[in-house]
Amino acid sequence: MNKIWTPSSWRDFPIKQQPIYEDQKKLKKIEDELSSYPPLIFAEEARRLKAQLANVANGEAFLLQGGDCAESFKAFNANNIKSLFQIMMQMAVVMTFSSSKPVVKVGRVAGQFAKPRSSDFENIEGVEYPSYRGDIVNDIEADLKKRVPNPKKLLKAYNQSAATLNLLRAFARGGMADLNKVHKWNLDYMQDHPLGEKYEELAARISQSLKFMEACGVNGANTPQLAQTVLYTSHEALLLNYEEALTRLDSLTGDYYDCSAHMLWIGDRTRDLNEAHIEYFRGIKNPIGCKVGPTMQEDELIQLIDKLNPNNEAGRLNLIVRMGASKIADIYPKLLAKVESEGKKVVWSCDPMHGNVEKTNNGYKTRDFANILSEVKQFFQIHKNQGSIAGGIHLEMTGLDVTECTGSRSCAISTEDLTSRYHTQCDPRLNADQSLELAFMIADTLKEA
Ligand code: PEP
Ligand code: CO
Repeated sequence: MNKIWTPSSWRDFPIKQQPIYEDQKKLKKIEDELSSYPPLIFAEEARRLKAQLANVANGEAFLLQGGDCAESFKAFNANNIKSLFQIMMQMAVVMTFSSSKPVVKVGRVAGQFAKPRSSDFENIEGVEYPSYRGDIVNDIEADLKKRVPNPKKLLKAYNQSAATLNLLRAFARGGMADLNKVHKWNLDYMQDHPLGEKYEELAARISQSLKFMEACGVNGANTPQLAQTVLYTSHEALLLNYEEALTRLDSLTGDYYDCSAHMLWIGDRTRDLNEAHIEYFRGIKNPIGCKVGPTMQEDELIQLIDKLNPNNEAGRLNLIVRMGASKIADIYPKLLAKVESEGKKVVWSCDPMHGNVEKTNNGYKTRDFANILSEVKQFFQIHKNQGSIAGGIHLEMTGLDVTECTGSRSCAISTEDLTSRYHTQCDPRLNADQSLELAFMIADTLKEA
């Protein structure tokens, strides 16, 4: 482990969850091509995010990270990107307004393609197929040929990420994030939902404050924060040959950055201390995350922190806790106490999605909103009990009117409703209604704190 790090030193370590490409020559050619392409982000942006995450670690800001479980080539269009942008803006404004804390916005977007799977094969109607590993690897269609990993998809994923990021940057800087448009963020289908109305009330109060400020001479023209925002990007850096090809030496600092996204994280299945993902991540200087699931041991977590954040820098490491509503109370308090007692500076965020997956009788993978809410509430309570900082939330969500997670007060999706608009490529996402409900709940909790 202490050997010299290079962008490719991970190749000397055991690795999990990688596709097996039949044509290694073709793969190498594509990796070389990707290495010659422009980076998707600039290292200085990653450093800015790290500084903002340091504020999160210190309790001065809150992190909202969210987006698709898996982006897809088929669902790639402006409307989907725009609705994610809008719902994130809505949630952020709800949370900022009541907590008076800035919200750091990080999308699971513009690169969130590769998926870890519980098995290498999948049985569909009696036929064994290689598992779908995300559009960057193979096709979701149950077709033996299309399930073969195809390295060309790496290029397509890069191009889609570039175009997505381009539009997000345009929205963030080009007027869509203007607080004067706070009413316009309310998604069309939400207009006559109870939560849409609750949001409208809040938006009206914001508009009033803006008018007052305008009268005092403060406006978007002289105060850019009122008219612009920053939405950072992130994804699980699972496919290390893709990440290696986008790893670049920053000429300003002489450090390596993974320029495929501002922030990258390690999944719960690939965080083994002696394996390739930890090796790759220790060398890049981006802010990074690591999922912390129910099998994590106390000493293991300390070692993991020491490997990934040896200088104990606030903002470098985001621990994304995903235990499940029925387990968090048993497992998390001890882990948290251990890390805090050793003085480790990390961002603690709550992923209430991945520990709460269930399969319905009609064959859908879903999550019940009550469990999601319960895990988030317990997360905040555990932090309150220990006097430590609950820094953020990590969600699988969309601005679209999907029916993928059951429950919630306002839209009350039943198991039967799942058949109606179940569009996810992988795990079930919160729709805009459910996302807003969660945002209002978090806003109340932050206000209390
Ligand atoms: C995910 O975030 O989509 C994911 C696979 O999570 P985890 O690694 O926590 O299972
Ligand atoms: Co997922």
